[in-house]
Amino acid sequence: MRVHLPTGRHAVLVRSLHQPNAKLVETVLAADALRRGGARRVTLVAPYLPYMRQDAQFMPGEPVSQRVIGEWLGRAFDAVLTVEAHLHRISRLDECVPRGRSLSVAPAIAQWLRRRRAPAVVVGPDEESEPWVRAVALASRLPWAVGRKRRHGDRAATVEVDGLAGARRAVIVDDIASSGGTLSATARALRRQGVKTVDAVVVHAIFARGALGRIASAGVRRVVSCDTIPHVTNAIAVAPIVAAALRVEAR
Ligand code: R5P
Repeated sequence: MRVHLPTGRHAVLVRSLHQPNAKLVETVLAADALRRGGARRVTLVAPYLPYMRQDAQFMPGEPVSQRVIGEWLGRAFDAVLTVEAHLHRISRLDECVPRGRSLSVAPAIAQWLRRRRAPAVVVGPDEESEPWVRAVALASRLPWAVGRKRRHGDRAATVEVDGLAGARRAVIVDDIASSGGTLSATARALRRQGVKTVDAVVVHAIFARGALGRIASAGVRRVVSCDTIPHVTNAIAVAPIVAAALRVEAR
């Protein structure tokens, strides 16, 4: 890897870090190359930041990956920007990534929902989803509800949702879809309550093999995602939100 740039510039490295291990190493090496190549300041824009979900030691013997990766990136970069980092046990990204900032994509999701012009209840699968579900619902002026999720292993989950008050259409909003277990369980809960049309919006489209089929079989009509990870479901661009944050960062 070789980088040459005019001395004294602010370099912004943009890389989505899904399928992360090789990319993380390359990204940290690129930060060093940029500095040695003359950058005065190096910012990382990682629309998807990996290892944020392992934010505690859930079982004895496990690492707390969020801290390890966060501190590593904090040492390599002057600032780290990402989109909807999975912050459940902490409220700000800079508590685990020094000088890190997680951008809310709620305005872009709300805009997408408003364009659909179909009244719906915005539903979050669990209490952890409440902050962004509430933000999306308020910005799109739609009612909202949050379910209760119980995990039964890596892929299986059950969800219960109350407070739908005869709703016929719902949009599930979640930050990540991986196995699809959470979206499927939420969709089944909504169908049980008589909701006729269920769509889903996720921020980070990880989607393991078979996940989209599983979600469709559970009765989800359409799944869309933000383009933080390239995927066939991408429909909501995060570039305007990142660009606005970079303009502030660069001042
Ligand atoms: C959990 O805390 C997250 O917000 C997502 O609900 C979860 O990561 C989705 O994973 P999966 O698609 O495997 O159920």
